[in-house]
Amino acid sequence: MSVGIERIAAYVPSYALSLRDLAVARDVPSEKMTAGLGVHEMAIVAPCEDVVTLAASAGLRCLRRAGVDPGEIGMLLLATETGVDHSKPVGIFVHELLGIGRHCRVYELKHACYAGTAALMTAADWVRASVGRRRKALVIASDIARYELRSPGEPTQGAGAVAMLVGNEPRVLTLEADSGTFAANVYDFWRPFGRREALVDGKFSVECYLDALAGAFTQYRALERPQLAPEEALSDRLARLLYHTPFPKMAAKAHRRLIELDWRAAGQRWAKVEPTADESVAASFRDLAATGIEAVSHIGNTYTASLYLCLAGLLEREARALAGRRVGLFSYGSGCCAEFFTGTVPNGVESVADAGLRDLLKARTMIDVAEYERLMTSGEVGGEPPAAFAGDFVFRGVRNDRREYGRPRASMAA
Ligand code: HMG
Repeated sequence: MSVGIERIAAYVPSYALSLRDLAVARDVPSEKMTAGLGVHEMAIVAPCEDVVTLAASAGLRCLRRAGVDPGEIGMLLLATETGVDHSKPVGIFVHELLGIGRHCRVYELKHACYAGTAALMTAADWVRASVGRRRKALVIASDIARYELRSPGEPTQGAGAVAMLVGNEPRVLTLEADSGTFAANVYDFWRPFGRREALVDGKFSVECYLDALAGAFTQYRALERPQLAPEEALSDRLARLLYHTPFPKMAAKAHRRLIELDWRAAGQRWAKVEPTADESVAASFRDLAATGIEAVSHIGNTYTASLYLCLAGLLEREARALAGRRVGLFSYGSGCCAEFFTGTVPNGVESVADAGLRDLLKARTMIDVAEYERLMTSGEVGGEPPAAFAGDFVFRGVRNDRREYGRPRASMAA
């Protein structure tokens, strides 16, 4: 039985900050942000948005695009590291906002950015195990990445959500059963209780990411080895490679590491290509990975959603060319857990490739650094949506320790 992603939809907040403006305010060369990290803009949430409204807006768009009745959802998995309560999961607010029926498993998954993949794999296993039930799973990855103002992590913030309908009629991506995994207890990035902003050992986190990539990819490659011709690189069998992208330069570093491991394992001694290795890797990056990170260079880190925003952005740009071809995906969550897996883009994908990302990015309002700092330090206030608001739900605030949500007026009328 084929299992995978039947439909995908994205949601990104209505505000964005230019990293050039941030560079000026922080007195660093703008090339450090745009070339050094590869980020151009980062998404910022308005006071009326939180992790729940981002998730619910993505979920609603996914169900609408798929033409699926919310009652058909038998499992709602919400991956996030921006939890709003120690007990009450983000998913149960989303369950109500989307009108999903009573007979549904709803829970939250956490392992930093890896949780989006944990949710996708859990949903796929549930579909495989529930032959004949004909119900679908809705996986939503939603996060707001926050670091301290003026910290090295500041330019790598962002926010957004991706919703994926998972079932046995995959039209977006058919998941292959094998994957390579890697886990280790490391303190590279964490957010203790009571803190809104993450703590991070930045340079160490980059090393941890690359070590986890090596661990997961090496295991996956060993599984694939019997299918490869002698000296054949696995990357030659993949039309595109997508990476968890906290900032685009990280994907470039990851691609270099993966290609090096792959070529060495294929017996194409790295030394043999050494004089041209940089050029070869740069060309391979342009061919296999650059398109996948284009959209996220305008959004920033979205933690659990990052890899799947890359998938959505890639398909919006290249669906036709990728139909019938395999892609490789690498998911990393600090702390850490990682997985390398593959999937095939089904024929006919063009008709479901619009995840809404392009339109959302065009409709955003750019804010200045003063407004960004005001929003970052104002805490959770909730409120009415700004004039140009694309979201389907609003966070009204916290009253009597309870969170309140509703619909923006224009959306209610629609
Ligand atoms: P930094 O101190 O700003 O770094 O922190 P830097 O001084 O090394 O500069 C960054 C790059 O800009 C370097 O390039 C510089 O050379 C270059 P590289 O050597 O790395 O190729 N540069 C310039 N380039 C052009 N013109 C210039 C210029 N100046 C410098 N004038 C760091 C960077 C990423 C560490 C920081 O932003 C940070 O801590 N970010 C947050 C942590 C993070 O994103 N880690 C990624 C791996 S962990 C992960 O992905 C998990 C995560 O998503 C969380 C989760 O799982 O939930 C974070």
